[in-house]
Amino acid sequence: MSRREDLLTWYHSVRRDFPWRHTTDPYRILVSEIMLQQTQAARVVPFYERFVERYPDVDALADADLAEVLSLWKGLGYPSRARRLREAARVITSHGWPDSAAALESLPGVGPYTAAAVASFAFGEHIGVIDTNVRRVVSRWHGVPLSGRRLQQAVDEELAPPADQWNQAVMELGAMVCHPRRPRCADCPVAESCIDPGAYQPPPRQSPFNGSDRQKRGRVLAALVDGGPTDLATVATSTAIGSDRLARVVETLEEDGLVLVEGGRIRLAD
Ligand code: ADE
Repeated sequence: MSRREDLLTWYHSVRRDFPWRHTTDPYRILVSEIMLQQTQAARVVPFYERFVERYPDVDALADADLAEVLSLWKGLGYPSRARRLREAARVITSHGWPDSAAALESLPGVGPYTAAAVASFAFGEHIGVIDTNVRRVVSRWHGVPLSGRRLQQAVDEELAPPADQWNQAVMELGAMVCHPRRPRCADCPVAESCIDPGAYQPPPRQSPFNGSDRQKRGRVLAALVDGGPTDLATVATSTAIGSDRLARVVETLEEDGLVLVEGGRIRLAD
């Protein structure tokens, strides 16, 4: 059997049962892929379920209040994803769904990866979905770290219809077996056709969350979601963030369109 067939057979026997694997609704796929951008799949599940229950379609999300969207997002991290997702819903309610990966990239918060995922999983477009997992797996198969056009070519050579299954299967292999630091080659369904798992070295680990600006941003947003508009001095006290640091963190939240500051008062953006 070919590598592709071995991979698909393995995927169908072990795949994890995620809710977004039971739908081709582009809205649900978009929500899941935005959530999955920086968060592990198993952690995303309860957030995804609450979110699509509260906002079952793009119209519901387009009408949503930012404070409520952020409260459902709390704990997932990178909250600007939530605001951009609501912006994307607003664009879609006015103009309809872009129906190709290239067109999907015009939506707020949607880069090449998310656009390809929605095009593949919702619209059945014949396209490879390339993220860091796929890059790692395919690089190891080829025995060299691939990127850019060479990576695209390598993925295109593997793809045969239905591409969505191959995309899910490679992601699953990357998540379950072909780990960044310790690949479990003994359990790999395609180890025989892999040239060199050592060919790909993962980038350094993310810096710690505790004490980071990202953590402080989350605290400021949580204070506003829970307590409503207030003055900056109150936020400084309730979050225990020093004033210089608070000013810096608030500035980044303003740049991301998440808060508005005027005359010493701060509130969530509309
Ligand atoms: N990570 C990114 N997209 C995913 C998907 N559709 N299923 C599982 N993990 C993913």
